[in-house]
Amino acid sequence: MCGIAGYLGPRKAVDVVFDQLKRLEYRGYDSAGIAFPERQDIRILKKAGKLSELGRLLEDTETSDVRTAMGHSRWATHGAPTDTNAHPHFDQTENVSIIHNGIIENYLELREELAAKGHHFHSQTDTEVAAHVIGDEYDKGVPLEEAVRLAVKRLRGAYALVVMSRTEPGKLVATRNASPLILGFGEHENMLASDIPALLPYTREVMVLEEGDIAVLTDHSVRIMDGDSREVPIKAMTIEWDIAAAERGGYEHFMLKEIHEQPDVIRQTLAGRIDDKNQIRFEQIFGEHVWHEIDRVNIIACGTAYHAGLMGKYLFEKLLRLPCDVYYSSEFRYGDPVLSPKSLAIFISQSGETADSLAALRLCKEKRIRTLGIVNVIGSSIARECDRTIFTQAGPEISVASTKAYTAQVLVLTLLALYVAQVTEAPGIRVPSVVEELKGLSEKAKACLNTEDVVLALAEDVRNAPLCFFLGRGADAYVGMEGALKLKEIAYIPTQEMPAGEMKHGPIALIQPGVVSIFGATNDAVLEHSSIREKVISNMQEVKARGGTIVAITTEEDNTVERVAEYVVKIPKCESEFLSALLSVIPLQLLSYHVARLNGCEIDQPRNLAKSVTVE
Ligand code: F6R
Repeated sequence: MCGIAGYLGPRKAVDVVFDQLKRLEYRGYDSAGIAFPERQDIRILKKAGKLSELGRLLEDTETSDVRTAMGHSRWATHGAPTDTNAHPHFDQTENVSIIHNGIIENYLELREELAAKGHHFHSQTDTEVAAHVIGDEYDKGVPLEEAVRLAVKRLRGAYALVVMSRTEPGKLVATRNASPLILGFGEHENMLASDIPALLPYTREVMVLEEGDIAVLTDHSVRIMDGDSREVPIKAMTIEWDIAAAERGGYEHFMLKEIHEQPDVIRQTLAGRIDDKNQIRFEQIFGEHVWHEIDRVNIIACGTAYHAGLMGKYLFEKLLRLPCDVYYSSEFRYGDPVLSPKSLAIFISQSGETADSLAALRLCKEKRIRTLGIVNVIGSSIARECDRTIFTQAGPEISVASTKAYTAQVLVLTLLALYVAQVTEAPGIRVPSVVEELKGLSEKAKACLNTEDVVLALAEDVRNAPLCFFLGRGADAYVGMEGALKLKEIAYIPTQEMPAGEMKHGPIALIQPGVVSIFGATNDAVLEHSSIREKVISNMQEVKARGGTIVAITTEEDNTVERVAEYVVKIPKCESEFLSALLSVIPLQLLSYHVARLNGCEIDQPRNLAKSVTVE
């Protein structure tokens, strides 16, 4: 997500902060800004676009005497990437300025509350609202750190915040909740950043600020307090990594980092979309009456996003009984699809720039079909051109192989289906209880990361497999398709993916010793006296009888697959079977990663592939 940097000390603070922002560039950004004390005021310079745009502003500004500065590179979540929406932001009286990474979930409520007290807002951001809340407390005459402590009690959501005040110019106050913030300690200088690489040229002594703690930095001291103002001891650690490894947060590859980010991505994607009564809230999508009118959904996407779309179909049809088709974007455009005027076309795209999807979107616009985007990159073409867009809030995805974006896309589709159920009062779904499950999903995703031991052993077999099948029923089959795509694109292992029941109609002829079949068996729902899992186990038996190697991904309470499968990967169970299936993508992603690593493949930039496919 966004990049945060701050410096106090004898060096040219603006130059240091600009350099730190450059070192955070790999996180992705669309605008940037810097604040520093100037005479009795705070000076803010900010600009949409690349860092070089901000660099040009700085070239024309005399800053060589500045000894305290903070800077931000923004990856937009609320409001387009414009100069005005860029950070830093002022409060109402311009006494304080802040930079922020994360999402303030209750910013609309707070904005209304403050507007009623006469506050004026210049941007569309949640950050400016947070600045006003801090200013509101600071105006009561308390020290800056106390104002921040009181203000964060009014904020809900994920944030890392750094605050500067006009009247205490040699001080930066920082706090965080669920967004990263690292403090760096030097000789007569102190600094902070949202990631370690930004600090490494200046110090290797760092500390991760704990959630809820408040740090007060000057050039010669750092004080940390907890949320009740009790002093917290400083525990610095020495970083030995080289700078390139540090950019990946110590992970060997971005892909692995992004796989491990998924518990946080789940929290971020839910942020601001669930209220206290477990109801779904979506801003900026169609009015409630529109959902009563829609008679069919067409989901249009490519690759991983297409696979997320298949999960959408499962959800819309199962939860809402709303007919849904999923199209490859490249086929949709030339297939002359029959489109109901009351239908909704949903475009799913991480980058928001995929040419095939954009062309299909323009076709729908021509035909006056309602369009809804599910997009990760704010300001991208698909996000701008759809009638409405929901952002996945997954943060920048750098590895070519999409991992965390998929999870966020499926989660947004789940929220959307629940939202439609809520507004149309669809019978038979208890939205609050599914929402309660969603709240625990991040922890369950964390547990899925612990499957690495069995996945590593399995990777040793898969690395030499001439062919790998991905099989399952229902949502498990759809997730298997995504698992197969990962193994092909990263590890170059040939795959075949299909519903498990299809094997016996032909593809089973390909089974021979050495061929690995990975079965998703997370669904134990009972239909007509036998469970779906039992049916999958029968399909496993058919493959095993022909000499194939069997792998089962199942939920932790199950002990039925062991009698057939050579490898069993266990993940936490969710009451909603599509959520268990979604979680099973994590061991599949880890599997492709480890097979690729064992086979010495170029993981973050696999051969023949590009991150954003802007040609048809
Ligand atoms: C696979 C992958 C691709 C993309 C596809 C669509 O790991 O990344 O299959 O999912 O090219 O890209 P977006 O989502 O940017 O439209």
